[in-house]
Amino acid sequence: VSTQLSAGRDPDQRWHDWAEQRPATPGPHFDNAAAGRSATSVLRATCDHALLEAQIGAYVAEELASPVLDAGRAALAELLGVPPEGLAFVEGATGALKALLTAWPLEIGDTVAVAPSEWGPNMEAFADRGLQVTELAVRDDGEIDLEHLRRLLATSPPAAVHLTQVASHRPLVQPVAEAAELCRAAGVPLWVDAAQALGHVDTASGADAIYSTSRKWLAGPRGVGMLGIAETWWDTLKIRVPAMAEGGLPVVRLLESHEAHVAGRVGLSLAARQHLELGPAAVRLRLSEVGRGTRASLEGMAGWHVLGPFDSPSAITALRPTDGQDLTATRARLIGEHGILTTVAATARAPREMSAPLLRISPHVDCTPDDLARLRSALSTS
Ligand SMILES: Cc1ncc(COP(=O)(O)O)c(C=O)c1O
Repeated sequence: VSTQLSAGRDPDQRWHDWAEQRPATPGPHFDNAAAGRSATSVLRATCDHALLEAQIGAYVAEELASPVLDAGRAALAELLGVPPEGLAFVEGATGALKALLTAWPLEIGDTVAVAPSEWGPNMEAFADRGLQVTELAVRDDGEIDLEHLRRLLATSPPAAVHLTQVASHRPLVQPVAEAAELCRAAGVPLWVDAAQALGHVDTASGADAIYSTSRKWLAGPRGVGMLGIAETWWDTLKIRVPAMAEGGLPVVRLLESHEAHVAGRVGLSLAARQHLELGPAAVRLRLSEVGRGTRASLEGMAGWHVLGPFDSPSAITALRPTDGQDLTATRARLIGEHGILTTVAATARAPREMSAPLLRISPHVDCTPDDLARLRSALSTS
């Protein structure tokens, strides 16, 4: 994989078309790790369902949409590596973890093992559930040390291992498939936060539970997410069957809220199908090229340090200011003067690892060398 994005017009028409299928932006959208840009067709499908609800009745519209929703669950299940019956629509990644922690057979005081790069709010969810957190050893680049994990599983196995597959605050991807193998051999469940991973890296890793959100790399609507649970666990889940629940539903489906943003689920179902049609492997390759190209393009700029690991397959890049720049002001100036959208990543995202805020750059497949040159030039004037 080239570490530089090819100059001039993208040689692969697919990525140019990907951009054309979305509403125009004032400038480079480098904020897909916050929320991706939905395709116009996805926005239209979401809107059309909402219109239909007002025309024929919300519940009749939902019944009519049920083949679309089932196909959406199947597409997402394929991407997350669980059976279609093991997939539930929820309201986001945060909601998914809450549902998982409520349904999973856990005792107060049980231990969850996490990496130092763990997403901060997940640690709050573990504390709310009365769980203790233990830290996994990592290599210099922040990836978990698999040999340490193997020893931990053998000597003092936690109730679960939880990995955030793609970190939100810097280019870091955890080896979840390898961890899943070790956890399976030790009989310890692996849970995966794939909020930044779905539509970005390979998420069919053999995790026992995996959850994500619609709006980031898959570029589906906001307010929708999903939770997938491997079949081995279905019988042990503690799910109270609501009296009003439709009979005969697969157990994981009982985690879906009855009242929900169904129009968003319809939009997400289309976004998932479009991602499968585009080719997840091609998107993964392209995003890794975009991430490396972004880091190569910003490397060596006065006033900014590019965080590693440089060769990570993540499309997320993080910059640390070295001249005391105010990141909130920088972000506002990038938007106001250049139409460039970025995020200021606060330390609460990864409190065990971050000591200062970072400027996060997260382009999608349509990123061009011109976009990156614009960013570099805009940043060099701060
Ligand atoms: C790694 C990670 N986990 C979880 C979340 C929360 O996702 P949601 O806002 O859909 O609840 C995010 C959102 O940025 C994230 O980056």
